[in-house]
This record gives sequence, structure tokens and C-alpha cells, in this order.
Amino acid sequence: MIIGIVAISKNFAIGRGGKLPWHYSEDLKFFKRTTVGNVVVMGSTTWRSIGKALPGRENIVLSRSKNIEVPDGVTVLSSVNDVIEFDEQDGRDIFVIGGASVYHAFADVIDRWIVTEIPETIEDADTFMPRDFLDEFDGEDAIDLDDNLRVRILHRRRD
Ligand SMILES: NC(=O)c1ccc[n+]([C@@H]2O[C@H](COP(=O)([O-])OP(=O)(O)OC[C@H]3O[C@@H](n4cnc5c(N)ncnc54)[C@H](OP(=O)(O)O)[C@@H]3O)[C@@H](O)[C@H]2O)c1
Repeated sequence: MIIGIVAISKNFAIGRGGKLPWHYSEDLKFFKRTTVGNVVVMGSTTWRSIGKALPGRENIVLSRSKNIEVPDGVTVLSSVNDVIEFDEQDGRDIFVIGGASVYHAFADVIDRWIVTEIPETIEDADTFMPRDFLDEFDGEDAIDLDDNLRVRILHRRRD
């Protein structure tokens, strides 16, 4: 299954200056326990922002560049199709972990979204999710985390 996982502010912001515009340790812990043991796919900007492979997960960096440098054990793939083929060979879930351009590239193939609602409005953010990104998804499941955070879990509507 291909799962998008994102933390999003009240005004749909997800990033500022190449980084997250907030620090919520409860969300980082939730992200870790949700993704560990699986595959994570990230864009090259998010890869540079994180700065290292996420431990306990198979790390895939999406890039069209031939020159991107990654440590041993990290895989660089150059298209969504390459990731889907990788998914078919592999029984684990694939978590699309951002940023905006990678969420956009996978929008049509994401089966489930896991969305942490950040209780802030980030006026000076520079990276946003589209307002309609959950239009084709339904779900009432929610998990309350400490730090006044709520995580919503949504599934693609099958009509
Ligand atoms: N709030 C959250 O949950 C969350 C999660 C993750 C990231 N973020 C934030 O989002 C921001 C970064 O987002 P971004 O959109 O600027 O960058 P990004 O999606 O992380 O990376 C963009 C790069 O990924 C590669 N790429 C994207 N689509 C591709 C495709 N279809 N095929 C091949 N390569 C592809 C390209 O790399 P090349 O240029 O190397 O070809 C592109 O320049 C940061 O502020 C980060 O902190 C927020």
C-alpha cells in the first residue's frame, strides 16, 4: 500500500525555508513508530533537510539528478513508476513522506493519508498542500497525541 503522511497547519502550510516550520516531538515520535519497518520515499529537498537516512526504514530519495550523493543503503529512484515497481516487488508499505512536490507526484496513487493537524497558522510558510488534496478521501479515524495534536487517517473513496 502507498500511504501519504504529512503534518499540516491550519492554513495548509507544510514547510518554510526547506524545513518544518514547527517542532512537535510527539508528532516526530508518532511518525517514527508509524513508518519504522517500512519504506519511506522523500524528495531530494526533504532528504537534504533531514540530512541522514531514517533508521529502521528503507530510505528512497526521489531525484532526476544523476549526481545526488547518498550513503550506502539509501536508494535513489528517478520516477514515481520506479517506486511503484519497487512496491510491487516488496511486501512492505511505502510511506510518501514529502515534500510538496513528491506529495503532488504521488497524489493519484496514494491509497491512504495520515495527516497530523498542527494547531497553528504559519503566515510566512513557503510550502503548502493544495486545499483539495483530501477531496477523494474519507475517514473518521483519528488519534489524539499529546501537544494538542490530532492525527486523521483517511482512505481513498472507492465508488
Ligand atoms: N509538514 C510535513 O509533513 C513535511 C514533510 C516533508 C517535507 N516537508 C517540507 O516540505 C519542503 C520541501 O518540499 P519541496 O516540494 O520543496 O521539495 P521535495 O518534494 O522534498 O523535493 C523536491 C525534489 O524531489 C525530486 N522530485 C520531485 N518529484 C519528482 C518526480 N516526480 N520524479 C523525480 N524526482 C522528483 C526533485 O529532485 P531533483 O531536483 O534532485 O531532481 C525535486 O527537486 C521543506 O520545507 C520540508 O521541510 C514538510
